[in-house]
Amino acid sequence: MTKKENLAWQYSTVTHDAVDVRHHGAINVPIYQTSLFAFETYDQFQQAAQHSQHTPVYSRGYNPTVRYLEEKLAELERAEMAKCFASGMAAISAAILSTVRTGDHIICVSQAYGPTRMFVTQYLQRFGIDATLVDGSSLDDIRAALRPETKLLYLESPTSMLFQLQDLAACAELARSRGIVAIADNSWATPIFQRPLELGIDLVVHSVTKYISGQSDSVAGVVIGSEQLVSRIAEDEYMLFGGIMTAHSAALITRCLRTLPLRMERHEKSALAAAAHLAGQPYVARINHPALPSHPQHALALKQMNGSSGLFSFESAESPEKMREWANRLKYFKIGVSWGGFESLVTVNPAVPGCAPEARSLIRLHIGLENVDDLLQDMDQAWTDVKDLQL
Ligand SMILES: Cc1ncc(COP(=O)(O)O)c(C=O)c1O
Repeated sequence: MTKKENLAWQYSTVTHDAVDVRHHGAINVPIYQTSLFAFETYDQFQQAAQHSQHTPVYSRGYNPTVRYLEEKLAELERAEMAKCFASGMAAISAAILSTVRTGDHIICVSQAYGPTRMFVTQYLQRFGIDATLVDGSSLDDIRAALRPETKLLYLESPTSMLFQLQDLAACAELARSRGIVAIADNSWATPIFQRPLELGIDLVVHSVTKYISGQSDSVAGVVIGSEQLVSRIAEDEYMLFGGIMTAHSAALITRCLRTLPLRMERHEKSALAAAAHLAGQPYVARINHPALPSHPQHALALKQMNGSSGLFSFESAESPEKMREWANRLKYFKIGVSWGGFESLVTVNPAVPGCAPEARSLIRLHIGLENVDDLLQDMDQAWTDVKDLQL
């Protein structure tokens, strides 16, 4: 599918529904603000209770507002089933736990989101589950970490600080050949620009908090995949830990989903303009953005994604102290964690292993939906202000 065909299909998926006769043709699914659903007869109740994942009985199981969003997200990832959770971490921990038992081993990419790494390398240790962190850009490294008891390969492509990719199709093939489940965090690209399930990955997880929500007003997550794998998670980790998405959150996120392709096109365009502008600046040593030909895995990015989002980083030979002064002077960029919303964001950290040798600082930018020329001028005026500071 070309990029144009893909976007045409995604636009139609997020905007088109048949007239919903259940709700008098209401163009938006109502918010089912209810914990339980009542029945007129005991027979009806007992019948429904046997199918509580598929029919309204109790909202920690099936809520029609949440179910509508789940069906849309499954459709966008071209999957059989999706289950929404209270946060990205609730979705990620549930998905991981569904694949392992005491004595098992997990392989996880070393640049995965911090709390995900902490979950697999520290928290799960107390249940006798071991983990190895690997360089996700090297299939050899992943292969070398395999053990007879390995049950899960956990991927995040691209990663969200240095934007390293994993070859999803090759990883999926390796995992399948060893009977291992492969999970991929697809929060950065969203189903608009990357669909790991089509490349053979078993389960996709999202921090819905990021682009899918896109308004920085919700914390949410989702697990997406085959009915076999996701319904098991729905019956076990979802029902037993109870980290559910509320109907109110689902309604807010559905509202945001209508504009997901539109926003992603804008984030992509503006972030590429910002990266091009930064490439000529004296304070920039290297830019980490998979859509740039200078990215070491650019060919892989073109192979497995058909677009890019608004989050990238650059490295600077200037000190973190000086770059924090630069960040302090930015007028449009807010200093803060997270990403995927309408607003531009900046964080400044000391350089990490994997940065260029001359780099002292790693600056992550989220390019929001503002007028991009304002953002470029903002970065310039902040640099003019700090360039002579001795820090
Ligand atoms: C790549 C990635 N995955 C998962 C998460 C966790 O999602 P949440 O904060 O919704 O729990 C985050 C949060 O920042 C993230 O950046």
